[in-house]
Amino acid sequence: MERHLQQEGHLKAPGNWINDPNGFIFYQGKYHLFYQYFPYGPFWGTMHWGHATSDDLVSWEHVGIALFPTKYGDQNGCFSGSAVEHDGKMVLFYTGVHYHEPDPENIHACLHDRFESCQMSVASDDGTHFDNFGGKRVVIPPVVDKKVGDWTHTRDPKVWKGEDGWYMILGSRSEDGRGKLLFYRSEDLENWFYVNDATKGDGWGWMWECPDYFKVEGGQVLVFSPMRFLKDGKWEENQAICMAVDFKEEGCEMKLPDAYQYLDYGLDLYAPQSTVDAEGRRVLVAWLRMPKAVKEAGKGPWSGMFCLPRVVEVKDGHIYFRVHPNVKRRYSRPVTKAEEAGPGGYRIRLLLQEGGCLDVGGYRVSRRGGRICTDRREVFCEREDCRMVFETPAVKEGNRLDVYVDSHMVEVYVNDGEYVVSNAVYGLRPGFHVTGGAEVELFALERG
Ligand code: FRU
Repeated sequence: MERHLQQEGHLKAPGNWINDPNGFIFYQGKYHLFYQYFPYGPFWGTMHWGHATSDDLVSWEHVGIALFPTKYGDQNGCFSGSAVEHDGKMVLFYTGVHYHEPDPENIHACLHDRFESCQMSVASDDGTHFDNFGGKRVVIPPVVDKKVGDWTHTRDPKVWKGEDGWYMILGSRSEDGRGKLLFYRSEDLENWFYVNDATKGDGWGWMWECPDYFKVEGGQVLVFSPMRFLKDGKWEENQAICMAVDFKEEGCEMKLPDAYQYLDYGLDLYAPQSTVDAEGRRVLVAWLRMPKAVKEAGKGPWSGMFCLPRVVEVKDGHIYFRVHPNVKRRYSRPVTKAEEAGPGGYRIRLLLQEGGCLDVGGYRVSRRGGRICTDRREVFCEREDCRMVFETPAVKEGNRLDVYVDSHMVEVYVNDGEYVVSNAVYGLRPGFHVTGGAEVELFALERG
């Protein structure tokens, strides 16, 4: 990894491979964002936690590898997890995996799902140095009670401080192959006790990854990533969804409604994670899955990036994902041509009328039947199993779009986060063109 690599706008793999955001926290005056990282190639393998920091959620610096396998429990990977602050320390919780049948031809992969998972933690005094050899502890051993959860597929601890103790939500699967949530409680962040579970009926996927639960002013939100949620045989069937829930600390009871929203209607984002920002807002980022690694001149191949940070709000039961105000503030340098923007990309603000179309270098955003539709057929790789066209439900709140354009990702914020559609793209052409639009404005990223 190129250490101290700086990036603006979207956080991208510093080379090789990244997936989920982990350990997102504002700690000692800085944002820390860790990520699932494979340092040896642009594909998934033995997981490490890479680490990036930022003062404002817009300018990022990659600062190295925070966690790497050292113990029996995490011998084959430090999977996803979260961070909290306690007594001035940053405490990370993550899933350690141990393979019982590593692939002899590629020890970074496991055969026949023969692995065990435990929940581990490690603390740091400064949020930067983690004692990988002496500081790790197993806080929850692999689950052996099949009535509770799965010995193999239980992972992604998200920890928060409740009214009267610490709580952890984990993703797991039930004995009859349904995704489920497990809730644990602790008084001291060290001793954890299983309290309850929550699940749904058929059709909700076989394993729920990366659950996140939080309260915002208008309600309580559950976000999770059910595996095989879509069943059309296309890449990717695993999708991040969210819903308004009701959680009671007493007994850890959570009722899951039938109504849900996609986190993002571009269906490329996955494994989101949230934290509280410096001003107390709930802010979330997610991984953009890329079907093909990017090869740029003079750089090693890379795969994986994160969406822009989004503020989560609930109003009348609807969950909004609004681009973070710091991002808006920085993408404010008026320009007349997209080509004037630097590597951080640019932002187009406009009103798109019914039947209108914004063509961003071959990526089309249109409004039909009150829905915002995107089409990436001209700017994608040749994989036949990928989805190419997307649409939101019918929008209710007007026709304002805020479109953030980067070389490999376009994010379309509809009516300030009523819906968002983000897509991975390859080979965008320069410039854009609007038909049936009004009040078109163009901004580049202001230097930090
Ligand atoms: C989600 C996920 C998590 C797991 C991690 C491994 O993308 O599969 O459930 O912890 O990635 O990299």
